[in-house]
Amino acid sequence: MSKHIVIGVTGGIAAYKVLDVASKLRKLGYSMNTIMTKNAIEFVQPLAFQTITNNYVVTDTFERPYTWDVEHIALAKKADVILIAPATANIIGKVANGIADDMLSTTVMAARGKVVFAPAMNSAMYENPIVQENIAYLKEKGYLFIEPDSGWLACGDKGSGKLPAPEKIVEYVVELLEKEEEAEVVEQDLAGKNILVTAGPTIEAIDPFRYITNHSSGKMGYAIAENAAKRGANVLLVSGQTVLDCPERVERINVRSAREMYDAVHEHFDWADAVIKTAAVSDYRPKEASDHKIKKSGENLILELVPNPDILKSLGERKTHQVLVGFAAETQNVIEYAEDKIRKKNLDFIVANNIAKEGAGFKSDTNIATIIDRDGTIIEHEQMQKSELGNVILDKLKMYFK
Ligand code: CTP
Repeated sequence: MSKHIVIGVTGGIAAYKVLDVASKLRKLGYSMNTIMTKNAIEFVQPLAFQTITNNYVVTDTFERPYTWDVEHIALAKKADVILIAPATANIIGKVANGIADDMLSTTVMAARGKVVFAPAMNSAMYENPIVQENIAYLKEKGYLFIEPDSGWLACGDKGSGKLPAPEKIVEYVVELLEKEEEAEVVEQDLAGKNILVTAGPTIEAIDPFRYITNHSSGKMGYAIAENAAKRGANVLLVSGQTVLDCPERVERINVRSAREMYDAVHEHFDWADAVIKTAAVSDYRPKEASDHKIKKSGENLILELVPNPDILKSLGERKTHQVLVGFAAETQNVIEYAEDKIRKKNLDFIVANNIAKEGAGFKSDTNIATIIDRDGTIIEHEQMQKSELGNVILDKLKMYFK
């Protein structure tokens, strides 16, 4: 959900610069409301903010105690951040002293999100010990301040108290919102569930030096494992050889060949509530792996390959309560082949993708998937980040847990 910013504009000549701040934030996709004090509208018309933010502006020009009362709570609740720019000595003093006598000060008082002040005033006012004490007190209480710049002020004086450039204010607010987003607690909707994920390619030895493998990067499986752990699941990742780091709070078992993967997965199958098999397993392996490096003879070399066990199929035969999720990497007849795999491997649902498509390949950070249920429901998804698709798959899995 996009973040919401409430901009509080107080009466200072720098108010016009805040139009640019609002415009830049809007271009970045944030939604906004503006609250203007009586003095602020002497400097800039509310209509200017209304047009730029494409949202209503609240002012104190009309005597509407009823709306006033409801509105300040509504905006305080809605705001992920309240940015007061320019912030006069008056609003700083009011908030520091618990005065709530207009729309902006009441909203700040009721705020749950962060409140950021961008002070702008004459340097003598800014340096006044009372203002400085108010600022120090507010900082102590967790209010945030964007330091003013120094330079020529509108009143002709030189010194500190200048509203920083709009870019600087925007950067500060964006960083703050991003930090908040990271810190937001992910809903623990998979808490207590045991999820086994396989990822990456398998490696089938020809000799100690050579092997058969495929282009799988493991990114899809690692994204699922990471998201499942974030959502509270106990995650076991059985991984073929990849360059990826093990995600936090995930237990990893490294394997090389399909047979090693088979053993690891079967060993933990009873523990699992679900198995998600993203691994790209080699269907064949050399009949015999030579103990020594095969020397070239100048003649044709015929390598005899024998089938590997189909791990997922064997789990389908063994499953009791487990939800089984397969992947189908296809280059043609995607849906038809994927549906066939659901039946043959006794799966609950399958994530099919055409690996020949741009944006859906092994090495890519994105995927274009179609999720097919065993009851025949087909949902085609747009191209998305593998991490996002990971959550889509886990959302689907959650429905099976109910
Ligand atoms: N799979 C498996 N063991 C194998 C082969 C595949 O567990 N020996 C799993 C994969 O992890 C994946 C699903 O089966 O979840 C489908 O894999 P895919 O390579 O698309 O299909 P295959 O069954 O190998 O069939 P084909 O190669 O003919 O498309």
